[in-house]
Formats: sequence, structure tokens, C-alpha cells
Amino acid sequence: MTGSAATVLVVGGGTMGAGIAQNMAEIGVHAFVSETDPVTADAAQDRVADGLRRRFRAEADMDERVAEHLARCTITVGLPDIAPDLIVEAVPEITELKRSLLADLDRRYPDVPILASNTSSLSIDDLAAHLDRPSRFIGMHFFNPVPKSDLVELVVGADTADVTVAATVAWVERLDKTAIVVRDSPGFATSRLGVALGLEAIRMVEEGVASADDIDRGMVLGYKLPIGPLRLTDLVGLDVRLKIAEHLHATLGPRFEPPELLRTMVADGRLGKKTGEGFHTWP
Ligand SMILES: NC(=O)c1ccc[n+]([C@@H]2O[C@H](COP(=O)([O-])OP(=O)(O)OC[C@H]3O[C@@H](n4cnc5c(N)ncnc54)[C@H](O)[C@@H]3O)[C@@H](O)[C@H]2O)c1
Repeated sequence: MTGSAATVLVVGGGTMGAGIAQNMAEIGVHAFVSETDPVTADAAQDRVADGLRRRFRAEADMDERVAEHLARCTITVGLPDIAPDLIVEAVPEITELKRSLLADLDRRYPDVPILASNTSSLSIDDLAAHLDRPSRFIGMHFFNPVPKSDLVELVVGADTADVTVAATVAWVERLDKTAIVVRDSPGFATSRLGVALGLEAIRMVEEGVASADDIDRGMVLGYKLPIGPLRLTDLVGLDVRLKIAEHLHATLGPRFEPPELLRTMVADGRLGKKTGEGFHTWP
């Protein structure tokens, strides 16, 4: 990291990439965002600008603040000719796409100290398969929306060097967030534990132990969780949760077997907030 002159290359300017770029611009870092073609590049530019407008909408000089921050975001089609201090890959969650892109990045930017992936579920060791320099590769799992979230889950592969972990923790602190460090394993720490609680809550509804409302209330009032596990499942999307549960079931065993009720609700299109109905009703 080189003080205020630091630059970050974010590859993929979708929901997460745009959020990461916005957050970097907010701390004075220049973010380059690489996209595949002019149409997706324009969409990425709009996403960053929208995020900044939301961020500064209460300020009288909103337009100036947005313009000042946008000046620190450069959207490119293809990979730019720069020497960034950090690379964060944020393309869709497809193993082969990420693997080949990461191998390209590894070759194209041999001197960058940290090559990170924002994968939310894929194995860091699997993604590192074609890298010549796996010691600088690490999982940097940001949460959505990035600028508002307080956590980054760092996922350490078998070959990730200690110096890479320490340098990535420093980046997280610079973003005014907290890092947790997790060994590469299915579901990392957050999804594994979050899904375990959600699945057990669903099994309790299935068995008629209590209503969804009462289960959520019990965890919020009794255990001080900010939101109940079933309401959270509705927000994430039952289909998304089912996919993660199936992955954890295949990798970690029968304790993650998706409950029948979850499968039925997904098949019926009751996916939670996005369809208006899940364990709760969303007007
Ligand atoms: N959305 C979330 O809530 C969330 C949370 C945490 C982590 N993640 C992870 O972040 C990653 C990105 O997710 P997202 O929701 O931002 O996806 P997204 O589909 O919104 O964005 C992906 C972007 O990558 C671009 N892209 C595809 N191939 C590319 C390439 N070769 N080079 C450059 N750009 C390319 C696409 O045009 C698109 O704009 C995934 O690994 C996902 O699992 C997502």
C-alpha cells in the first residue's frame, strides 16, 4: 500500500464490484473497475454513481461529492495497464470463469502483493489451482451492501502466505471494517453457521414446534440477534439458501440436509421477500 496514491483493481463491476469500488473511492483510493464490454462497463459506471448518490443524498453539495468520488473510479473494458496495490476479483460465482480469469490476472500482474477473490462459497484452494503465485492469493468475502457492511471474511488457502493475510487485514481496517480470518472450508464461517441456524429453524416450523413469528421473536428477544433466522432466510431468498444448503450437505454431510419444507416452498415459488411470501408475508 502506498498512502494516498494507492490503487485497487476490481474485476467485475456488478453488485459487489461496484460496491467495493465505491467504498475504495470513499477512503481516497483510486479504483479501476474492469468489465467485459462497453454495455456492462456503462452499467458498472451507473451502479457506482447510484451508490454514491445514495451515500450523499442528504448533503447539500451531493452533486459535487458524487463527482469528486467518481473521479477516483475508472471503469475499463478489459484489463487496464496499471500496477495496482490490490486486485479483487468479483465476477459471477462460476468456478471455471474465476479460475481462468485468476490465472490471467496472476500472469498479467506479477508484482501485485495481494490477489483476492470475493467468492462467497467456492474453495480458495480450488480457485488457486492454475496460479503460479498462490502465496499472494486469498478470499476477501465482502458483504452486501459493501459500503455499509462492517465485516470482511478473509479465507486463507493452504498456500496463502502469512504476509498476505496481514496485508489484507490492513486493507480491511483501512476500509474501517473488521476482518475475521477463516481457513478455507465449505461455507467458510459465516454461511456455515448462518445456514445451520436457518435450517434448524425451518425444521422446527416443519415439526410444529412453534410458529415462524415466535421462533424469530425467541432469537431476537432471548438471544439478542438483530433479526430472526426465518426472517433472514426470507431476505436472503429461500432458493439461495437451498443452494448453499445443498452445497454444504454434499461437502459437510447429513447435518446440512435441506428440510423438505424448504424444498417444497422453493418449488412453489415462495422464495421470501422477493416474491412477497416466505416464512413471513412481505407486502
Ligand atoms: N451479491 C451478493 O450479495 C454477494 C455477496 C458476497 C459475495 N458475492 C460474490 O461476489 C461475486 C460477484 O457477485 P455479484 O453479485 O456482484 O455478481 P453480478 O452478476 O452482479 O456481477 C458480476 C459482474 O462481473 C462481470 N464480469 C463477468 N465476467 C467478467 C470478466 N471476465 N471480466 C470482467 N468482468 C466480468 C459481469 O459483467 C458483471 O457486471 C460472486 O463471486 C458472488 O458469489 C456476492
